[in-house]
Amino acid sequence: MNKTLAIANQKGGVGKTTTAVNLAASLAATGRKTLLIDMDPQGNATSAAGVTKNETDTLYAIYFEGKNIKDVIKESRDGYSIVPGGQELIALDVDIRDNHKQGFLASQLNEVQNAYDYTIIDTPPTLNQLTTEALLSSVGTLIPLQCEYYSLEGLTDLINTINALSSKTNTNNRVIGIIRTMVDMRNNLAKEVSRELELHFEKVLFNTLIPRNVKLAEAPSFGISALQHKADSFGAMAYLALAGELIRRVENE
Ligand SMILES: Nc1ncnc2c1ncn2[C@@H]1O[C@H](COP(=O)(O)OP(=O)(O)OP(=O)(O)O)[C@@H](O)[C@H]1O
Ligand SMILES: [Mg+2]
Repeated sequence: MNKTLAIANQKGGVGKTTTAVNLAASLAATGRKTLLIDMDPQGNATSAAGVTKNETDTLYAIYFEGKNIKDVIKESRDGYSIVPGGQELIALDVDIRDNHKQGFLASQLNEVQNAYDYTIIDTPPTLNQLTTEALLSSVGTLIPLQCEYYSLEGLTDLINTINALSSKTNTNNRVIGIIRTMVDMRNNLAKEVSRELELHFEKVLFNTLIPRNVKLAEAPSFGISALQHKADSFGAMAYLALAGELIRRVENE
């Protein structure tokens, strides 16, 4: 079983990378072999995994320099593997379109199909070719979301895009879960938006709430997850709980 999941939200700074890295670390902690793919030119997941960005091969080398995905994989200190990202991916975004390489990542992932239980893809804050590649390669999408008013507007657009792409290309990507991030329930608007989500997206909304927690923000500067940084922090425990909920959701199907 290899479940490839994209983490996507075209809105910036909602906790995509924090979720990608801490979920990968939590899945690895449960003994699941996990591969994280950094599909973002910002390379935040790469540095959070303790790999120096822009000094290693990225997916660009796999698309255009004849490298095998296995050649570019690095190991994190959290027990998961990573395909690094970085600035090269800006060129990849353009070159995929110019060279009609859409769907190439999916074929490359077949190479490591049996080596991992989970493949998690972190995407940039825009619906460009990189994000589309991630969506085309995945069986499901996880959407991190801050409980703010505009988040609800963007959410419907994103779900429609995923469904349209899926039916147009005959891939079967679907939204597996919406994750409420940076939660502060003392905030009345957050409570209200959270209630709206429960009302309209009950089936896909994760029960686990990811709290605003400084350990989650600090950990990337050490190149590790919150679980390595401070295992009993609220942030680390929340992502462990989320991993548990995800495992129950996708492995019991
Ligand atoms: N639960 C949290 N508690 C505290 N800080 C958080 C939490 N989640 C994320 N952050 C911080 O918020 C900022 C944005 O988070 P992150 O980089 O994960 O978002 P993103 O959606 O990946 O951003 P981008 O769209 O730029 O890729 C970062 O500085 C991160 O450390
Ligand atoms: Mg990010």
